[in-house]
Amino acid sequence: MIWEAEDATAYGVGGQGLGSQASSLTGPGVQERLIAAELTEGDLEVDRSLRPALLDDYLGQSRVKENLRVLIDAARQRKDTLDHVLFSGPPGLGKTTLAGVVANELGVAVKTTSGPAIERTGDLAAILTNLQAGDVLFIDEIHRLNRAVEEVLYPAMEDFVLDIVIGKGPAARSIRLDIPPFTLVAATTRTGLLTGPLRDRFGISFRLDYYSAEELRDIVVRSASILGVEMEEGGAVEIARRSRGTPRLANRLLKRVRDYAEVRAGGVITEEVACRALSFFEVDGLGLDALDNKVLDLLVNTFGGRPVGLSTIASALGEDAGALEDVYEPFLLQQGLIQRTPRGRQATPRAFDHLGVPFKAT
Ligand SMILES: Nc1ncnc2c1ncn2[C@@H]1O[C@H](COP(=O)(O)OP(=O)(O)O)[C@@H](O)[C@H]1O
Ligand SMILES: [Mg+2]
Repeated sequence: MIWEAEDATAYGVGGQGLGSQASSLTGPGVQERLIAAELTEGDLEVDRSLRPALLDDYLGQSRVKENLRVLIDAARQRKDTLDHVLFSGPPGLGKTTLAGVVANELGVAVKTTSGPAIERTGDLAAILTNLQAGDVLFIDEIHRLNRAVEEVLYPAMEDFVLDIVIGKGPAARSIRLDIPPFTLVAATTRTGLLTGPLRDRFGISFRLDYYSAEELRDIVVRSASILGVEMEEGGAVEIARRSRGTPRLANRLLKRVRDYAEVRAGGVITEEVACRALSFFEVDGLGLDALDNKVLDLLVNTFGGRPVGLSTIASALGEDAGALEDVYEPFLLQQGLIQRTPRGRQATPRAFDHLGVPFKAT
């Protein structure tokens, strides 16, 4: 089996995903969820069925792929374990997918867990002692590991040993256990929250970027063929264009547009059908999600285009400043909707245009 059953609870959601039957044609009410960057319940099922298993099926991110190909081939030739790998970047860009791809390309099993799921050092010890030599251990959201657990991870990553303390107080003693050599693959949306010592222990580190419209189009085409959806090129282009540079969103929109096409438009996703469906679901022309739009609204309307400090934006929106900076801001910057100035974040003319507000220079 290529993929280990994934522990849905690790993501803090219930087990059953929403199939397409359940995702009835609801309009604007679902908007927030439909375009939210984070993982939603329905995604677990879609993600699994559409997830590429090998590097060749993984589209885009060519720099990351080329590097991984070399590193993996080298490890295989030397019959050595691959160095520990860290993938960082905003949600939905393919970090979890890559962890599986790495294991599949190495021809080893993958055990999946997440930072918040490993509560005590004993939990980690149990996971590590149960690995087979060469296995991939995937820790999602590694920035959420607690410190005590992290300290146990250091010698495990470096020397494949576990230091276990037995007893308490003056009688306590530490014993050292060997564990099988393994490759830690970790993912994080928040590199800034990783401690220096942890970051230093990854021999390989990649930051995933937003996908181009062409790459997303290829992903939509691939997904449509897996799902058996009839789609014209123009339909794929339209879905890709509104997917916020994010494959997870592209797949989610594809499923919604398919539902719409089946019920309202004879089943085939043409450009025209995709446009109608996406406006029915009120998906923004740039694929921006609700929070993206709130940020723009604040900068354009509340602050009238003046520069605003990150912490001010964060508290006005009730969001964490770090999350805003790592998860949301990159896309808005990449799209040229906001800019960073020495005095704070500022809306660009394009942001005014997007909100339909006349631009005024400050
Ligand atoms: N490079 C890619 N090529 C094709 N599909 C992709 C790619 N990256 C991500 N996907 C799709 O997007 C979904 C979300 O990816 P995932 O790995 O869960 O993102 P992350 O872990 O970064 O949040 C996956 O189910 C997969 O179908
Ligand atoms: Mg993930």
